[in-house]
Amino acid sequence: MKALVLAGGTGSRLRPITHTGAKQLVPVANKPIIFYGLEAIAAAGITEVGIVVGETAAEVMAAIGDGATFGLRVTYIAQDAPNGLAHCVLIARDFLGDDDFVMWLGDNLLEGGLGDLVPEFGQEQRRLTGAPAAMILLKKVEDPTQFGVAELDPEGHVVRLVEKPADPPSDLALVGVYLFDRRIHEAAAAIEPSGRGELEITDAIQWLIDQGQPVVAAEHRGWWLDTGKKDPLLEANRVLLERIEPRNDGTVDDASRIEGRVVIEAGAVIERSTVRGPVVIGAGCRITDSFIGPFTAIGPNCEVAETEVDHSVILEGSRLLQAGRLVDSLLGREACVTRHGRSGATRLTLGDHSTVDLG
Ligand code: TTP
Repeated sequence: MKALVLAGGTGSRLRPITHTGAKQLVPVANKPIIFYGLEAIAAAGITEVGIVVGETAAEVMAAIGDGATFGLRVTYIAQDAPNGLAHCVLIARDFLGDDDFVMWLGDNLLEGGLGDLVPEFGQEQRRLTGAPAAMILLKKVEDPTQFGVAELDPEGHVVRLVEKPADPPSDLALVGVYLFDRRIHEAAAAIEPSGRGELEITDAIQWLIDQGQPVVAAEHRGWWLDTGKKDPLLEANRVLLERIEPRNDGTVDDASRIEGRVVIEAGAVIERSTVRGPVVIGAGCRITDSFIGPFTAIGPNCEVAETEVDHSVILEGSRLLQAGRLVDSLLGREACVTRHGRSGATRLTLGDHSTVDLG
């Protein structure tokens, strides 16, 4: 069993962060999103991993290297344009050979990782007849119109997949994890680009079904977050911060209070401030006269002075100086929010596709 991790794409829904970096490397609880996926793959006993990279290849390769720190052997597969998830399968043909593989979307997070899916798929494959060509993971969602949705027969076989249906056949959305055997290669080669110009993995799976190849589904019972947009990313940060082990490797003065689950990394200095967890404060940060509220992750080397921050992800090197109260915010690297005087005027220097909500 190999793994194919997708770390290319456009990331248009996470602009402006993705103008300057890969969305799969945005940290949640101060760790790049894709690292959680790689850890899940290693935990499932897989070692051979292909990572599809696009425009942000250099950054992804620098962060993951040869994969040894995860116990993986990584092969990078360059995709010249984000032509769709099935296109990723096509270009990974040489790496995958005829092996079974897990396909993992690099910006997805799944509670419990791959769980028992790999042995389950292997077991089904070893049966002599009716071995599934694909196993998809499904999750009940409230609004299926936003997702790829599966229709199952009473035996649990997948009979139809529909992308963002106006009239959903079920409330079972496709989670960004798929298991395939070699039959997917023929399917990916057979389909045509969709209306949005991409080779869709749902079309490739539908092609398998139409050819009479069994496609089975497993229901995912834990949480699943597709972090490709700001709000789910903040939600992922919230969920993962709830699991951190408190630790203080920094310096906290007597006038400060640290409450609940808080990680303070080495070299961080906290003065005359309250930090109410779950919170992580990165190495080398300086927090003074501030309140850092629950579900906040502050990256390394940030400066926060006379500011209140809640439920936010602040990336490396940012500065919040007398910035008032920030909530539900996502700030890229070396962003600066500051307040001069009391004029009440707002002065902005914003990158392309930035969003400001003045509350
Ligand atoms: P998406 O989030 O569906 O696509 P996207 O990255 O283009 O994002 P947006 O819609 O905001 O523009 O992709 C899911 C994952 O697969 C994500 O980690 C990016 C990756 N991907 C590729 O590697 N190659 C591709 O051709 C596509 C479409 C996605």
